[in-house]
Amino acid sequence: MILVTGATGALGTLIAERLADRDDTILGTRDPRQLKAPLPVRRIDFDQPGTLAGGFEGVDVLLLISAGYGEDDTVIARHSAAIDAAEKAGVRHVVYTSLTADGDHLPYALPHRWTERRLQEGTMGWTILRNGLYAELLGRLAGPSTDGRITAPLAEGQLAAAARADLAEVAARVTVDAPAHAGRIHELVGEQAVGGADLARAHGPHVTYEPETLAQARTRMAASGAEPFQVPMLVGTYSAIAAGFMSRTGGDLRQLLGRAPHSTLAAALAQPPQQRAHAARNMP
Ligand SMILES: NC(=O)c1ccc[n+]([C@@H]2O[C@H](COP(=O)([O-])OP(=O)(O)OC[C@H]3O[C@@H](n4cnc5c(N)ncnc54)[C@H](OP(=O)(O)O)[C@@H]3O)[C@@H](O)[C@H]2O)c1
Repeated sequence: MILVTGATGALGTLIAERLADRDDTILGTRDPRQLKAPLPVRRIDFDQPGTLAGGFEGVDVLLLISAGYGEDDTVIARHSAAIDAAEKAGVRHVVYTSLTADGDHLPYALPHRWTERRLQEGTMGWTILRNGLYAELLGRLAGPSTDGRITAPLAEGQLAAAARADLAEVAARVTVDAPAHAGRIHELVGEQAVGGADLARAHGPHVTYEPETLAQARTRMAASGAEPFQVPMLVGTYSAIAAGFMSRTGGDLRQLLGRAPHSTLAAALAQPPQQRAHAARNMP
């Protein structure tokens, strides 16, 4: 039996859609009432270890969607509880949604690397999906304001972002064929690197890219109502992209999809207009 955690999240929803016709798959989420999927649902909350022992009972393959959104110790405690419980429950293989290797400079890389190491040192089979940053996230981090200006602090940096739907597709494919991916680390970045000027051009002649400084961005975000841990996450994300650490394309996405990945630009532009202050809500 397969269990997918985090099934109400944006990634989890897309994965659940792709596994909806399977009779060996169940979904896990903190709040089963939120889920309108045609698959059985169990309550799985990494912050409530009491939900995990029964939640993982009978599961052979666990797709562990990272539970970001917190300080490092919070995220590590969540993933630690989930992996401990999976081992105890007899889960045979964990597929984990991690972060691209080029993301090592990102402020939220540490819990991902901790989790990778924990799995590699554990007793279960494992597969690590090193997801690139979402194109949809880029679309929010560098969306035009109502007056047509993109003022993100990306300098000339570009991001090899991947469409979330492609990452979901790969996660679903790998999970249903987990033994074939045992001990593998898949790098899942986009095939197109996109920066502020590219986004402005793609939006059309009414949009301009006017990069701001990291300090200006930090001040703006601190005033936006973001949680304290989110401000350095956002600033660090802009900084890594601006410094050119996130632009490397390639990786395993095309081969695992069996087709060309979706266009990074198209996925970034498909985002509804957002106040950039709200980008903090979609941080890893
Ligand atoms: N690559 C990127 O650009 C990027 C961007 C944002 C986030 N991420 C990371 O990738 C994950 C999935 O992305 P997403 O777009 O689906 O994010 P999302 O829509 O914000 O969903 C958050 C996810 O975290 C899960 N979660 C939070 N706290 C949890 C807990 N205590 N126990 C179990 N699960 C918990 C949620 O599960 P339920 O609500 O269903 O319980 C949900 O799947 C995020 O959690 C984050 O770690 C990556």
